[in-house]
Amino acid sequence: MDCRIFLTFPANTPTLQNSITPAPSQHRCVPMSLYRFGISLDKNLIDQFDRLLKERKYRNRSEAIRDLIREELVRKQWRCGNEVAGAINLIYDHHRRELVNHLMDIQHDFGKTIISTQHIHLDHYHCMEIIAVKGRARDVSNLANALKAVKGVMHVSLSMSSTGKKLV
Ligand code: NI
Repeated sequence: MDCRIFLTFPANTPTLQNSITPAPSQHRCVPMSLYRFGISLDKNLIDQFDRLLKERKYRNRSEAIRDLIREELVRKQWRCGNEVAGAINLIYDHHRRELVNHLMDIQHDFGKTIISTQHIHLDHYHCMEIIAVKGRARDVSNLANALKAVKGVMHVSLSMSSTGKKLV
């Protein structure tokens, strides 16, 4: 069973209920910069999607689909080696002085990619560093991998985000 829905992208978006538009005559007027289109989806798929939207507190399908599109565009920016932004989260024990020196050396090597670093003393032993990064995707990934490879580092995660350019 197909379920035809219309997706709108105005600032004042319709409710989830209202975004199901059975006939073109019921289309709402939207600003010129916004594009409206309809897609056909399996009923089971749209039901699952609607449950997901409810769990994630989306007000309507358009907002959720906009986010899905942006996520995919950001993934593509990383895949294609574009300029990206993000954050590397690092956990280690600062009593291991060699380890600390090694981490510092790596960060100096990537000085052009690192835009800010925040150091948090989690407890007597453990430190967390949040390294804000902006630059070519490959440089950011190389930095994260270099930090991850240092013996004694407990955990490294890379949050892949965007500079915001080309995203509306
Ligand atoms: Ni510390």
